[in-house]
This record gives sequence, C-alpha cells and structure tokens, in this order.
Amino acid sequence: MKVDVLLGLQWGDEGKGKVVDVLTPRYDVVARFQGGPNAGHTLEFAGQKYVLRSIPSGIFQGDKINIIGNGVVLDPALFKAEAEALEVAGHQLKERLHISRKAHLILPTHRLLDAAYEAAKGDARVGTTGKGIGPAYTDKISRNGLRVGDILHRFEEKYEQVRSRHEMILKGLNYSYDLQEMEQAWFEGINYLRQFHLVDTEHEINNLLNEEKSVLCEGAQGTMLDIDFGSYPYVTSSNTICAGACTGLGLAPHKIGEVYGIFKAYCTRVGAGPFPTELFDKIGDRICTLGHEFGSVTGRKRRCGWIDLVALKYSIMINGVTKLIMMKSDVLDTFDTIKACVAYRINGEDITYFPYNIEEGVQPVYVELPGWQTDMTRMQSENEFLEEFNAYLSFLEEQLGVPICIVSVGPDRAQTIERYTEE
Ligand code: GDP
Ligand code: IMO
Ligand code: MG
Repeated sequence: MKVDVLLGLQWGDEGKGKVVDVLTPRYDVVARFQGGPNAGHTLEFAGQKYVLRSIPSGIFQGDKINIIGNGVVLDPALFKAEAEALEVAGHQLKERLHISRKAHLILPTHRLLDAAYEAAKGDARVGTTGKGIGPAYTDKISRNGLRVGDILHRFEEKYEQVRSRHEMILKGLNYSYDLQEMEQAWFEGINYLRQFHLVDTEHEINNLLNEEKSVLCEGAQGTMLDIDFGSYPYVTSSNTICAGACTGLGLAPHKIGEVYGIFKAYCTRVGAGPFPTELFDKIGDRICTLGHEFGSVTGRKRRCGWIDLVALKYSIMINGVTKLIMMKSDVLDTFDTIKACVAYRINGEDITYFPYNIEEGVQPVYVELPGWQTDMTRMQSENEFLEEFNAYLSFLEEQLGVPICIVSVGPDRAQTIERYTEE
C-alpha cells in the first residue's frame, strides 16, 4: 500500500487542516511528519471551529489512528493544553494518538532561546512563532536534543544537563527570563505525555502498510518555508517538502503515492522575508479582510498578495505534486479582475524559473483574468461554476501542468468541491 502526502505549496496556512479532515474518511491512518506547535491547522464542522498545533487533523473523523512522527518537535506543555481541550470537547485521544519516541522535545529554554536569538537579530529577525522551533531542531541536528523516549528513564538528570547548557547561552546573550512557571507547566506536560502510546512509529506505520492499511501524511508550514528550498533564512527549521515525510516517519521513498499540493487562490505570508507578489495597497487589505488573514497561532496579520505561479511551479517540482487543491476561492468572489504572476522581471529580463535570490529587484509580471463576481460559498458541485471561474482553473492547470482536483469555497468541511471524480 502507498502513502499519500498532503502539503502546503506556499508560505503556510493554505488550509491543510481543513482538507486533511475532509480526506480522512478515505484513510486508516493520518500522520504528522515535521514541524511542531508553530503550525495552526484550522477545521470547521457542525458549527465548531478547532485549531490544531501538534495533533494531526485526522482526529475528528471516527476512530482513525493518528500518528505524531519522529520528525515532529513536541512541546509537552502545549501538547497537554491542546489534547485536554479536545478531550473536554468529547474527543478521546489516548487510544488512537500514537507518538514517536524519536520525536524531539521542545524545552522551555528552547522558547527562551528562540526569543533571545530573534531579539539579537534586530531588524533581520525571522519573525518566528516564538515556539522554540529553531533551537529545538538545532539541538536535534547537533546531537544535543532530548527525545520523547528519554522521558521514560532518568529524565530529570538529562533535562538538567540540557537546561544548564541553554542557560549558559542565554547568559551570554544577556537575556533575562523567569523559568519557574514555564518549567512547572512543562513537567506537568511530561507527566501527561506518559499516558499516551509512546512507540516506534516507523515500525507501526510500515506494519500498517504491510496490512494494506492506507496512510495520509499531513504536512505543516509550506514549501516556501522549507529549510533547504524556502526563502532562506526566512524559513522554518524542518523539511516541509514531500521528502520530509520519508525522514519524518521512516518511510521508504518508493512508498509515496499521491502528493496533494495545496495552495490559496491568492498568496499570504506571515513573518518576515521576501514575497514578490505582496500587495501594499487597498487590494491587499481587501484580501486580508475578506480572507480573515490573521495567524491562527499568533494572531498576527498575514501579508497578502496575488498568486505566484513561478513559486508554485517550483514547489510542484520539488514535491512531485500529482494533484492540486485550491483553497479560499470564495475570497476572490467580489473581484472584477484577478491577477496571476507568470514571470519575475529581474534587471529587465523576464524569467519563469524560481531564482536563487528573491530578496530584491524582483518585479512580478502579471496576467490579468476576469473575476467571476458571484457568491461561491453555497456551491455544491463544479457544474455550478461560472465560465470565468472555469477559465481561471483552466489557466492555472495549463500553467502548472497538474490537475486541480479539489476546490474549497469556504472554511467548513462541507464547502469542498471535488473535480475529476470519475477517474
Ligand atoms: P493551515 O495551517 O494550512 O491548516 O491553514 P490555517 O488553518 O492556518 O489557515 C487557513 C484559514 O482559512 C483557516 O481560518 C480556515 O478556516 C480558512 N479556510 C480554509 N479553507 C477556506 C476556504 O475555502 N474559504 C475561506 N473563506 N476560508 C477557508
Ligand atoms: P502552518 O502549518 C505560516 C513561519 C513564521 C516565520 C517562520 C519561522 O499553520 O501552515 P518558526 O516559528 O517555524 O521558527 O518560524 O515560519 N511559520 C509559519 N507561517 N504557517 C505556519 O504553519 C508556520 N509555521 C511557521 O511565521 O516566518
Ligand atoms: Mg496555519
């Protein structure tokens, strides 16, 4: 059995949580493979809204197994808060949420280091989510991290060692802090974590595949935030791309089946860093207001702009995307014209490949298309799409070379339209 992967093609917040929830009934298992509580995946159904950070978005559909893989970094305090809120809302997790013993822990001092490094960078700061993601992955790669499996044996001793090393760095950075309250919540989180199935999820997931069970992997962040291929250094600290599902879950590359690439009908970015199609005018504000573009974790205003097909083509290439999913089409319902960036003009030359540096001197070259100017939020099938909307889809498919199989017309689970269903 193959594993399908769903991941973001832009700078995150494409709507991954919503679509993972919609697709979950077709799978036996949903697995997160990277990132941590920097993610905020929103789902809406039955008048309820949930924002998930570390827990996979397959948790609401029946009794599916949900896995937090080894590639994830987990903050026990935030995990406890997230899991308990779900349990209070009637969603039992303990039996069906399995956590890798090889996942790395985010310590309270990782959060402090995240803040201290950002402060030290001044104007060059990344604009991180402040969740300790960078320092936790740094410790993992430099072989100084603590893993979930460590909590099962002589944990305090190991923790003290790492904490005192972090405190030395914080001192060097002249960063003042108060750890006590954070530590208390964190250790409560560690105790809570002990109640879960802490397993070697690489064995579990491969055994499930051998039993013909189907798996959907849920990406966090987006390709343009990937540590290798994103707009470095304004990126996150993990491989958000399809290959991350292999290393973050222990899957062989040939096990990957469909790769769902998800994008908004326009583009957003939260945090610092280059964004060639960013709009600084009323249109950008209008997209922000109509799309409610405020971060689901930090509440920060998301920067908004037109869709960038140069960047999208790059993301499709890096991930081997086989099916596209277009989100938030309804946000553009009232626009009379819609723009799509088809090339970058750099030093007077138009290029259509994604260049090494997009930090300065990149002018987007746009194609203008007529808007559909109709309310799409109640539409149930593609038969209801207007000519202008079909023309927008055809234009994107022609440019990107991959079919758009799902169109989302609102935040609710039900506001999802599938195409090419006869295949
Ligand atoms: P994720 O991080 O990729 O899961 O995306 P987020 O949850 O951070 O951001 C997507 C936001 O758009 C959430 O508030 C969703 O409820 C909302 N959303 C998802 N799909 C649609 C859609 O088709 N239309 C509208 N208007 N909102 C949507
Ligand atoms: P989801 O999964 C949007 C951004 C931050 C910052 C950069 C580095 O909800 O799509 P980090 O805290 O990871 O060190 O921050 O990455 N960022 C996201 N932007 N969606 C996300 O997740 C993000 N996770 C991190 O804003 O620019
Ligand atoms: Mg998000």
